[in-house]
Amino acid sequence: GTTLGASAAEKGRYFGTAVAAFKLSDSAYTTILNREFNMVTPENEMKIDATEPQQGQFSYGSAEQIVNHARSRGMNVRGHTLAWHSQQPGWMQNMSGSALRQAMLNHVTQVATHFRGQIYAWDVVNEAFADGSSGARRDSNLQRTGNDWIEAAFRAARAADPGAKLCYNDYNTDNWTHAKTQAVYTMVRDFKSRGVPIDCVGFQSHFNNDSPYVSNYRTTLSSFAALGVDVQITELDIQGASAATYRSVVEDCLAVARCNGITVWGIRDSDSWRSSQTPLLFTSSGAKKPAYDAVLAALNNG
Ligand code: G3I
Repeated sequence: GTTLGASAAEKGRYFGTAVAAFKLSDSAYTTILNREFNMVTPENEMKIDATEPQQGQFSYGSAEQIVNHARSRGMNVRGHTLAWHSQQPGWMQNMSGSALRQAMLNHVTQVATHFRGQIYAWDVVNEAFADGSSGARRDSNLQRTGNDWIEAAFRAARAADPGAKLCYNDYNTDNWTHAKTQAVYTMVRDFKSRGVPIDCVGFQSHFNNDSPYVSNYRTTLSSFAALGVDVQITELDIQGASAATYRSVVEDCLAVARCNGITVWGIRDSDSWRSSQTPLLFTSSGAKKPAYDAVLAALNNG
């Protein structure tokens, strides 16, 4: 293939990017988006603060802009994200206990129902584990509603949109030896053994000097896949955009049959949440970087 999406498709995979609705009027941006990618993730537009700014009042305009842009061009959509401790609207931040549990489940149900049939995979729950060596859940208002909040969210999402793959998504879960990785693995194994409806695990894969790519990444992907879930690289960016590291990530995904797609967290360096790290595949002026060539070659050779 001559583009990221077409080359990934030849390997039975997708290649996606995060998209911001307000950039869809930038033709330099949409030219690259429409040419290269066949999966999109709304960068912020499906988060709780965007979709339910007031309790019970749902707002889907900018999310629908992205979904319609993508689906009318044959691209699929990863939904991001239904339940998260961050980017909660003020009304939710101030809730707790059974009222919060009910509001969270209603949010999952309403949003997944609204987009039913249009979402390839949902990040049902995002970033629910703590950093560091504890292997514990992250403390949050959602966690304080009871340890079963994650499985409750997955069951609500399945009921609302039975056709979407349901993913758990997190960062710093790339290194197989890290406590956080092992803790997520243990949860997924438990969910599979008890029939909790989980289909996939998203590895954000924000690699930087503090949490670099490590060669056991492939072991991480294959170990999770062996539990009977798809694995997806969901928010890839690499500080400095080393071509060799991008190539390794692609090769690792291609080596794992159930690694069914890669998403980069933005198109041009100027689109990145960490733009000063120049971590993406295109320069701020839209030129292909050496990392782009490495990714394309790896997709075509693998
Ligand atoms: O839209 C408002 C704008 O109205 C306001 O004037 C401006 C002032 O700060 O803020 C704008 O919202 C910002 C939003 O991005 C849209 O640009 C928020 O402040 C800012 O916090 C938000 O950052 C996003 C961040 O998640 C927090 O939700 C980043 O764009 C987005 O790339 C980042 O993505 C996350 C994933 O969802 C989860 N994994 C980690 C990843 C990187 O942090």
